This record gives sequence, structure tokens and C-alpha cells, in this order.
Amino acid sequence: MAFLPPWACALVGCISVSLAGAFSLSDLYPPLWNESPGQFSDYRVENGKYVIDPWLYSKRMGMYKILVNKTASYFEKFAPDNEQNFLWGLPLQHGWQYTTGRLVDPSRRTDCGYEYGDRLCISVDSWWADINYFLCALPFLAAVDSGIMGIPSDQVLLLPPPKDQTKFCLNISSCQSSFPKTMKKWNVLYKHLQSPSSSFDDLLKYLWDAHLSSLKDAYKIFEHRLEYYSKPEADFGRDWCVALDYLAAASFPTTFIQVSGFQKGLPPRVLVDGDKAPFISDFTDFQNTVLLGLNLLHQVDNATDSLSLIIWKILMKTQAAKKLALEISEAILAIFNPTFLEMINELK
Ligand SMILES: *[C@@H]1O[C@H](CO)[C@@H](O)[C@H](O)[C@H]1NC(C)=O
Ligand SMILES: *[C@@H]1O[C@H](CO)[C@@H](O)[C@H](O)[C@H]1NC(C)=O
Ligand SMILES: *[C@@H]1O[C@H](CO)[C@@H](O)[C@H](O)[C@H]1NC(C)=O
Repeated sequence: MAFLPPWACALVGCISVSLAGAFSLSDLYPPLWNESPGQFSDYRVENGKYVIDPWLYSKRMGMYKILVNKTASYFEKFAPDNEQNFLWGLPLQHGWQYTTGRLVDPSRRTDCGYEYGDRLCISVDSWWADINYFLCALPFLAAVDSGIMGIPSDQVLLLPPPKDQTKFCLNISSCQSSFPKTMKKWNVLYKHLQSPSSSFDDLLKYLWDAHLSSLKDAYKIFEHRLEYYSKPEADFGRDWCVALDYLAAASFPTTFIQVSGFQKGLPPRVLVDGDKAPFISDFTDFQNTVLLGLNLLHQVDNATDSLSLIIWKILMKTQAAKKLALEISEAILAIFNPTFLEMINELK
């Protein structure tokens, strides 16, 4: 167990997937999944273009819904029912952000996102929403560009947010000129996705490569938005970004079940001053453990000047170590909740 990295603690979150009663995947869909657009024709058309407002939760979720739908056929060879589609991780995360109140206007200057105001509104001042934009618009537009969405490149247009418009690219050409490296990485993923010879592990590497690239572009631009939040929430945001480097190196499979389970360990609301893991009384043990684990990981990473990440990456280059890491985390899960392993095995 000496090799057990702090992020493995985070995986403990997987265990709290409730298996009580009849278990159905659709119980775990993100909020408003069924009400969100599922095809391009569900969006408004203007001058021959589909116009999408990504600053409305259901419209942004619809982009993911189309992406997951249009890529489904490429994952059939790995598992039925699109369960192994690792793009599921993106809409599930966005659903978590919505449910936990992370898409609201943190400056409280508007009622954007609030229950008493415009609940579906996504605030451009939300750090989480801005980071997510780069993990939604870029993968979505790159997918259109790569041809897998079934519409021509110039047939879709994203609406700008009410302010800071220049920070967000709205169409394929502007995203490509503003974020060329990242758009290319998403394209590389889709190119390999279309190739019948690609293995699941290879594809997962391309996904994480593109994911981290999007994240890094966005992080630089929006770091100052963390000032709107309490210190525990801002720290959590930063911890989370560091943790993703480790999850990426381990090629964490962001499939439906894995991410659904994992998210149960993430903070169920925005953190406020005074919240200190593992002593947050309205959090589950898992949520407290995950939060603590993420923070420890960041501290180790910082104290070693990211040498810990370099070592972790070297370790994860060997298949045996990667397998061991996943097995250890699954074993931990099994200790807390034996039924989780059964569920994983059932789906394998
Ligand atoms: C994709 O969407 C179409 C149209 O809404 C639907 O008929 C089809 O079943 C969906 N496919 C998958 C795999 O979800
Ligand atoms: C793409 O967006 C940019 C601004 O973001 C705009 O100047 C340009 O005309 C748009 N291109 C197309 C093809 O719509
Ligand atoms: C990282 O380390 C530096 C000094 O090495 C310290 O000033 C900083 O506060 C640390 N940051 C975190 C998030 O621990």
C-alpha cells in the first residue's frame, strides 16, 4: 500500500453510488438531461445556422447530449449502451456543477443561476462555468470540424456571454486561431476515434491530453475569478486542477459509471469560510475524505515542486503499475462498499 497516492483516496468516492433498489443508469443522468436538446434541429436556426446559447444550462447540456449521441457508434465495440463512452465524464461534471450551485454568479451582482432568479442561467463570472466552457465549446466545435457531428463547419454559432466576450471563442475558426494547440488535440482524439484500429487505452490518452490542454488554456485566463469565492472553495478549485494532472497520468476512465460514482465524493455545495475537511458536518465521510485527499495531493505536489507528478507519470507509463493503481483503488472501494465491485464487474 506504500504506493497508494493521495488521489486514490479521491476514488473512494466511487463507493457511494447507491445501489439500493433497482439500479438504472438513467437515474444517474445529469439534471434536465431529458429536457435538453438532443439534436441540432432542437436549436434555433438563424441565417441557416444553428444558434446555441451556451450560457443557459439546458442549452449547454444539449451540446454534450449531441456529442455523446454522435460519438456513441465509435464506442459500441467496447460496450453496449454507450456506457464506455468516456465523453460522458464531461456532461456528468457539468451536471454536478449545476446541482452544487457552482454555475451561479459568485459576485451576486445578478440573480444568474439562483433559485430565486434565473436558475438555468450560467454566469460568466463563475470560475467553474468559464473553465467548463473550454471543456464544452472546444470539444464540441472540434467535433463539428472533424465531421462526426454530421453538419458543415460553418453551420453552428455559439452566442457570446453578456460580458468578456473576447475571452470566449464562438465558432470553429476563432477557436482554432485563439487556441490552436487545444483544438488540434481534440481533433486528434476524434480522428483516432474514427479509426477502427484504435484501442480504448489509446483513445483515453488522447482524451486526457485534450482535456488538460483545454483546462490549462482556461485556467490561465480565469484564475482571477477565484477571488469571488471563499478560501476553501478557491483552494478546492485549485486542488481539483492539480488532481486532474494525476488522474490524466493514470488515464482515469471517465466513463459513465466511473464518473457517476466518483462525483458522489465531490463537495455537494460551494464551500464557505470555516469549511475544513474532514470535519464538514453536512458532508459524507467520503466527501470529507476526498476533499482532504485532494488538498493533501496539492500540498505534496507543491512541496516537491511537482516532482511527485513526474514520478507518478513515470510510474504510470508501465502498464503493470497503472493496473495496480486501478486495482488498489477498486480494492479500497470494495472495503467500503462491496457492492461497487460487483457493479463494476457486472458492467465489464
Ligand atoms: C441519438 O439521437 C437520436 C435522435 O434523437 C436517437 O434516435 C438515437 O437513439 C440516439 N442514439 C443514442 C446512441 O443515444
Ligand atoms: C467567428 O467569430 C469571430 C469572432 O469571435 C468573428 O469575427 C467571425 O466572423 C466568425 N466567423 C464566422 C465564420 O462566423
Ligand atoms: C506552495 O509552496 C510555496 C512555497 O514553496 C508557498 O508559498 C505556497 O503557499 C504553496 N501553495 C500551496 C497551495 O500550498
